[in-house]
Amino acid sequence: MKILKVCSACLLLLALVFCSKGPEPKDKVLEAKVERLLSQMTLEEKIGQMNQISSFGNIEDMSVLIKRGEVGSILNEVDPVKVNALQRVAMEESRLGIPLLIARDVIHGFKTIFPIPLGQAASFNPEIAEAGARISAIEASSVGIRWTFAPMIDIARDPRWGRIAEGCGEDTYLTSVMGAAMVKGYQGDSLNHPTSIAACPKHFVGYGAGEGGRDYASTFIPERLLRNVYLPPFEAAARAGAATYMTSFNDNDGVPSTGNAFILKNILRDEWGFDGLVVTDWASAVEMIPHGFAANEKEVALKSVNAGVDMEMVSYTFVKYLPGLTKEGKVKQHTIDNAVRNILRLKLRLGLFDNPFVDENQGSVLYAESHLETAKKAAVESAVLLKNENEILPLKENIKTVAVVGPMADAPHDQLGTWVFDGEKAHTQTPLKAIREMYGDKVQVIYEPGLKYSRDRNTEGIARAATTAARADVILTFVGEEAILSGEAHCLADLKLVGAQSELIAALRNTGKPLVTIVMAGRPLTIRKEVELSDAVLYNFHPGTMGGPAIADLLFGKEVPSGKLPVTFPKMVGQIPIYYAHNNTGRPPLGNETLLYDIPVEAGQTSLGNRSFYLDAGVDPLYPFGYGLSYTTFAYNNIRLSSNEYTEQDTIKIAFDLENTGKYTATEVVQLYIQDKVASVTRPVKELKGFERITLKAGEKQTIAMEVPVSELAFWNIDMVKVVEPGDFGLWIAGDSQSGNEVLFKVVG
Ligand code: GLC
Repeated sequence: MKILKVCSACLLLLALVFCSKGPEPKDKVLEAKVERLLSQMTLEEKIGQMNQISSFGNIEDMSVLIKRGEVGSILNEVDPVKVNALQRVAMEESRLGIPLLIARDVIHGFKTIFPIPLGQAASFNPEIAEAGARISAIEASSVGIRWTFAPMIDIARDPRWGRIAEGCGEDTYLTSVMGAAMVKGYQGDSLNHPTSIAACPKHFVGYGAGEGGRDYASTFIPERLLRNVYLPPFEAAARAGAATYMTSFNDNDGVPSTGNAFILKNILRDEWGFDGLVVTDWASAVEMIPHGFAANEKEVALKSVNAGVDMEMVSYTFVKYLPGLTKEGKVKQHTIDNAVRNILRLKLRLGLFDNPFVDENQGSVLYAESHLETAKKAAVESAVLLKNENEILPLKENIKTVAVVGPMADAPHDQLGTWVFDGEKAHTQTPLKAIREMYGDKVQVIYEPGLKYSRDRNTEGIARAATTAARADVILTFVGEEAILSGEAHCLADLKLVGAQSELIAALRNTGKPLVTIVMAGRPLTIRKEVELSDAVLYNFHPGTMGGPAIADLLFGKEVPSGKLPVTFPKMVGQIPIYYAHNNTGRPPLGNETLLYDIPVEAGQTSLGNRSFYLDAGVDPLYPFGYGLSYTTFAYNNIRLSSNEYTEQDTIKIAFDLENTGKYTATEVVQLYIQDKVASVTRPVKELKGFERITLKAGEKQTIAMEVPVSELAFWNIDMVKVVEPGDFGLWIAGDSQSGNEVLFKVVG
């Protein structure tokens, strides 16, 4: 009997949620410093701290604003010489010498670029996400950045939304675990360490539910759904000690987040005890005018500050209107004072008053070898094997010539993905480069892009690519999306491969040679046809600087794929929204529904059975949440629970046998799902409540132990109270959200 393994992810989240740092404990000395400084500040100086500007490069002009005490923070300045110059003006030439908060969007790396967060989520490995955030903080802080606008933890269930790339996918539990790990990575063990940077969970809240998958669109999330699905990752981040939060662009049920006191005060402050800083998104305050929620900039300032915003990003209404509004009594002095307390508290916690300056020669940490190695590991673990017919992968010894084809094979800029301001494409190691350098001694590499870039509709190169590819023993075609096709404001109404990529794949298929399709994208794509044409498909959510070496090692078998989908893949756009943790409805599909072309002519009105499904698409996705293949196979057996009845105070202990029934040492992400079968409101058909990466040698079998406190089954019920309701529950342990055998248990009152 092998060693019992306990679910580390469950323990990690439990540690984060129940016994983690949470909001920093009140530091009496620090609070006294805050009060002492506050008491010396004029109203204008206080309001100046609440103003964030974006660097426009001109130090002299920015210095004028800083000297006037009009700037509390600057984003988008990454030149350490300029950062030091600006800090020196703030410390030595403003009346009170208050240092600046220097901020940047360090979303998945600063110089060393990691897989986009959606890819990191596919690793189901919070430790690699934390390591990536830690490295990002080390590199960013080396140029003077001490605040990042990350992690983005918006739950996203609509892949038409370009920003699905930036988050951790559709699942509340996975996003909670990964987001909390990223917060810990950015902030380190203590905020005042010079390599720590303040995290900023965003976008608070519900931004990923925009109508039609359109960015900035209105959302209509009722409070119960907000509390059961969209808020928990932000609460987990708060319990992990997140230092700041950013308001989201969307209006939810008619209220823009930047003017929403319910979320910014009732929930964030009163319920969660958050004592950090709330910043708006870029101009999200003044955008309450086009929202139709504020008539003018004065009302913008009034509504956002009274709703609980501490700092305004770039739209300047605080500086312009808060002095007057305060004198008119429409904004209370204590509102201003509390906002400034939150800002000063963060600056003190970061140690900026002691030393806001940075060593201007710290280039050595940028792209450090260890950073690149970690980025490669992250890219390996983020890759998801969707298909592998006849075990074409990993490439075998008898393969002597490989054809590398496609617009993403050597795309150093696009491989990095969205939200890359500082990573340089010159450092990107592409698949073509990596295969040539790492495996050029084993195989002859012939390269023909076929298309110049993903949207290329010029098919002239396809014939040449196919002719070249026909000479090879195997074809490796790299397709997907350029970086610009996902991310902010980059939404798509259709998710098929853009340009002539599909034609390229068809032409390669016609050569009759084994065809491996490697996708690099910022989101799920509707690639059913291309999957059918391919013998194997490896899916990478823009893998970052080291994507090439990672993919090369996966293709040639030095590494084995372990990634699992953090988001459901629809067959077609018409199925969206489509996600595994859906409600059952009163007429769930039975799985035997007659589909479009099997319907008899003149079929009777009710002959098809009135169930919830699509005549032309059924109800199943192309691939479910949690899905991912390996080069080996795993068998799950003998799942047993410590009891079949639990009280709310109990912990459900699960044990099962996992066996590696294949030929390769490999890692499986075992997933634990639970369903609350009957409750005071309808509940999802299943919800992820635990996962862990288990590595087994070929033929090895282990008994794995996982556990879930019954308290983790709590939800906001019909009375809007968070409780565990007694009743019947189902539990699955499997390798994806659609597999596994159900085990039943009860919770008794
Ligand atoms: C952008 C994004 C936000 C980002 C901010 C600063 O519009 O919505 O995620 O942090 O502006 O760049």
